[in-house]
Amino acid sequence: MCGIVGYIGKRDVAPLLLEGLQRLEYRGYDSAGLAIQGKPAKGAQSAGLKTAKAKGRVRDLEARLPKRFAGTTGIAHTRWATHGAPNDINAHPHLDADGKVAVVHNGIIDNAADLRAKLAADGVELVSDTDSEALAHLIGRSQAPTLEEKVRHALAMVEGTYGIAVLHADFPDRIVVARNGSPVVLGIGEKEMFVASDVAALVSHTRQVVTLDDGEMATLKADDYRTYTTEGSRTSTSPTTVEWEAESYDMGGHDTYMHKEIHEQVDAVDRVLRGRIDDRFSTVHLGGLNLDAREARGVRRVKILGCGSAYHTGLIGAQLIEELARIPADAEPASEFRYRNPVVDPDTLYIAVSQSGETYDTLAAVQELKRKGARVLGVINVVGSAIARETDGGVYVHAGPEVCVVSTKCFTNTAVAFALLALHLGRIRDLSVADGKRIIAGLRKLPEQIAEVLRGEEEIKKLATEYANAKSMMFVGRVRGYPVAREASLKLKEVSYVHAEAYPASELKHGPLALIEPEVPTVAVLPDDDLLEKNRATLEEIKARSGRILAVAHREQAKADHTIVVPRNEVELDPILMGIPLQLLAYHTALALGRDIDKPRNLAKSVTVE
Ligand code: F6R
Repeated sequence: MCGIVGYIGKRDVAPLLLEGLQRLEYRGYDSAGLAIQGKPAKGAQSAGLKTAKAKGRVRDLEARLPKRFAGTTGIAHTRWATHGAPNDINAHPHLDADGKVAVVHNGIIDNAADLRAKLAADGVELVSDTDSEALAHLIGRSQAPTLEEKVRHALAMVEGTYGIAVLHADFPDRIVVARNGSPVVLGIGEKEMFVASDVAALVSHTRQVVTLDDGEMATLKADDYRTYTTEGSRTSTSPTTVEWEAESYDMGGHDTYMHKEIHEQVDAVDRVLRGRIDDRFSTVHLGGLNLDAREARGVRRVKILGCGSAYHTGLIGAQLIEELARIPADAEPASEFRYRNPVVDPDTLYIAVSQSGETYDTLAAVQELKRKGARVLGVINVVGSAIARETDGGVYVHAGPEVCVVSTKCFTNTAVAFALLALHLGRIRDLSVADGKRIIAGLRKLPEQIAEVLRGEEEIKKLATEYANAKSMMFVGRVRGYPVAREASLKLKEVSYVHAEAYPASELKHGPLALIEPEVPTVAVLPDDDLLEKNRATLEEIKARSGRILAVAHREQAKADHTIVVPRNEVELDPILMGIPLQLLAYHTALALGRDIDKPRNLAKSVTVE
């Protein structure tokens, strides 16, 4: 959420910053801006800062950039508004009163109102409505002799979360950065250094990175970097290599990242399975779990926490764990859990789910649990992310970089990762060898079956066009079908803006049936399990109210107007495959309605604010 990029070196900085911003635009896209150290005239030490900002996309900023914007050091930002409307003035970077300090900031300054009031009382004219501008003034007003100390002084007055990068006209040889709750990654090059909130902005230049910890700062010079705590003690951090090649962050010939990522699922699922299946004992190896067999047997409950699509995979995960391991399990939005003073039980295994590993509500829930002494595992995509680092162990889902704001391949891979975890826990407890073998065979079939579902894209596209003008859509499913219905409903509304509701099929008659009319079609998820007849009764009830029905099922459904047939697998794994055609339905509905698919309105990837 919001993107930061910075560079110091020998190259012309403006094109580099724009390229970095474009790669980060999925983290926020309502305004963008950059500041660079101007090129000093011969003999002069500094030429002052130059800034440009624009409401809208990075392309709008690019169009506004003066032709001569030369310099080799700069910082830039793409914004998702929290404090203050998206406009030119609220766009970052923010400057101090003398125009000597430029700050880009991700996160939220909780005591911004107090800081702004104090600055105003001291006669400072604040020009924006943001919480971030206060930081620029605090740094600018500090009498400390070095930029590092000025930043440290300012941060000492700040409560809240931040990832910041700072330029100062009087210290043109450096960029100072700091992190507390919002990611900051340094990119280490040959006589050039980068900084960004996300490796996506760096990988085309360097794969050697240093991820700052909370409470850490760094000074970047063209040929050197130094990390230290906000108190000033040196920290030692050696660079690590980014897992993914630069090409993984490209669109790879597709028109949108969403389309690319839906189609990547065959390989992604193959990857989450790779090297983990143990045929000898009909189980799986999960190297990073840090939970031995005795501890696993002692688990009495499992509680899964995540937000949005991650929460929905948690619902699937809870069902899988109950079915395969017979441990009572449930899922709850992390954002709710953290605010309700939860009872933390020592025999409960807590699992945090997150694609980005940055979602603030999920991170805060993990921190609260850890503080209370709970054991918390992570089911996470981004290796080394904040949540991954907070948890006691876990399962990486290996979906690869997910750039589209709307989660697709990561949803599927996380569901598969839960199947692996459930199988592992099950085989330590009472799941039979035969059932272990059955689930493993089912898991192995998934990549080919996903490919088969994707081959049906043209048909789904036609259906999407037919249903695109619906006034609203109802999504229903029973037990295994219900999390699929929830996720499909979220997918449709966030990418196409068509209103959608999701209900357990059995709940329809308790109220939502009142909404059913020909203009409000129902998408029914109907696996061929022991609930099929009950689900068919629901279809009858909808038909009796003149509702149109699109079924996702293992065979044609007579009561449905249309059926998308998906291949059969083991019933426990049904939610994994049944979600995929509905991702395509959301995608093609959005396409038919002319939506900006990779950047849905009002949203951004990685919600790092409360
Ligand atoms: C939906 C979507 C969001 C995220 C949610 C959690 O398509 O992408 O609902 O799932 O913001 O994000 P992570 O998984 O990064 O914690």
